[in-house]
Amino acid sequence: MEQQVLGRTGRLVSAVGLGTWQLGADWGEVSEGDAHAVLGASLEAGVTFFDTADVYGDGRSEQLIGAFLKNHPEAGITVATKMGRRMDQVPENYVLENFREWTDRSRRNLGVDRLDLVQLHCPPTAVYSTDAVYDALDELVSDGVIAAYGVSVETTSEALEAIARPNVASVQIILNAFRLKPLEEVLPAASAAGVGIIARVPLASGLLSGKYTKETVFAENDHRSFNRDGAAFDVGETFSGVPYEVGLEAAARFTELARDLVGDTLTPAQAAIAWAWQRPGVSSVIPGARNVEQARANAAAGSAATLGPLFMSGVREIYEESIKEHVHDKW
Ligand SMILES: NC(=O)c1ccc[n+]([C@@H]2O[C@H](COP(=O)([O-])OP(=O)(O)OC[C@H]3O[C@@H](n4cnc5c(N)ncnc54)[C@H](OP(=O)(O)O)[C@@H]3O)[C@@H](O)[C@H]2O)c1
Repeated sequence: MEQQVLGRTGRLVSAVGLGTWQLGADWGEVSEGDAHAVLGASLEAGVTFFDTADVYGDGRSEQLIGAFLKNHPEAGITVATKMGRRMDQVPENYVLENFREWTDRSRRNLGVDRLDLVQLHCPPTAVYSTDAVYDALDELVSDGVIAAYGVSVETTSEALEAIARPNVASVQIILNAFRLKPLEEVLPAASAAGVGIIARVPLASGLLSGKYTKETVFAENDHRSFNRDGAAFDVGETFSGVPYEVGLEAAARFTELARDLVGDTLTPAQAAIAWAWQRPGVSSVIPGARNVEQARANAAAGSAATLGPLFMSGVREIYEESIKEHVHDKW
């Protein structure tokens, strides 16, 4: 498993981490046993970076990770959590008093005195340009309750705003074959500033595995059923904001590209994950996994050989021809 520095945290983390939204909620049911098995299989396969949030299952994901850390105290795992979506997302709520309350709860859930990395969880755009927000986060670092902070963003301009701040350790952003805009300015700016990039939604919510069809039915409590039009949260988080049927066709082309260029060495899902962590400037890519098989397969993509320029030009062609018009100007 490739190791990379997580920006200004200075920590080395696995190039493929684990997204744990699935262990909380919004993806149908994942039992406690399956959740622990996913964490265990990931660690065994070399994953040392878990991404969670206080809001995933309203603390369930954090608590499951907390129990796991207790049983694996020497494993060297870095946990990034997020805060700010258990209250109304209005700029007035992003203040020190709330930050203290939110991080205290996450520390209890994770069973740690100090959080490795806490990210503002897609706050309103105005928050990114508010000095007092960064002052408050700096205070949490001085108090020792968090080791570092970062942001999780929806748009590239939010990312650039955060990267310009001196103490932002990392930026989490959607980066996958259906989201190429971060390659233009965000990744170079992050590299130049030493800010880590956490690439989320690398499979476009599973689409890039090539396994879904027009007939696929997602569970009622899966956001891929209830958030296709953005009814619950930013529509860009579901299939990266690409209309499902457009995404299916583009994913079929991506599958063909992967089969042509990497043959049997990587599945399309693994090629999508390897492509993401191999973009210069990315620290870790965090695919979500709902079972042990997915967790193992995804981790294995962390030691994939470099995908060459032909792969990149194939990805770009699919993006330009089918995807760009749906996403490029929005995020
Ligand atoms: N605002 C934010 O900060 C934010 C928003 C979204 C996500 N995130 C973070 O990013 C992580 C990753 O994003 P995501 O989970 O939304 O999307 P993703 O990683 O693009 O897709 C995850 C889905 O892909 C499918 N999958 C995973 N591994 C597979 C494999 N090896 N083969 C075939 N299919 C596979 C599974 O779908 P099935 O369930 O159909 O099997 C899984 O639920 C989240 O877990 C979370 O930690 C953060």
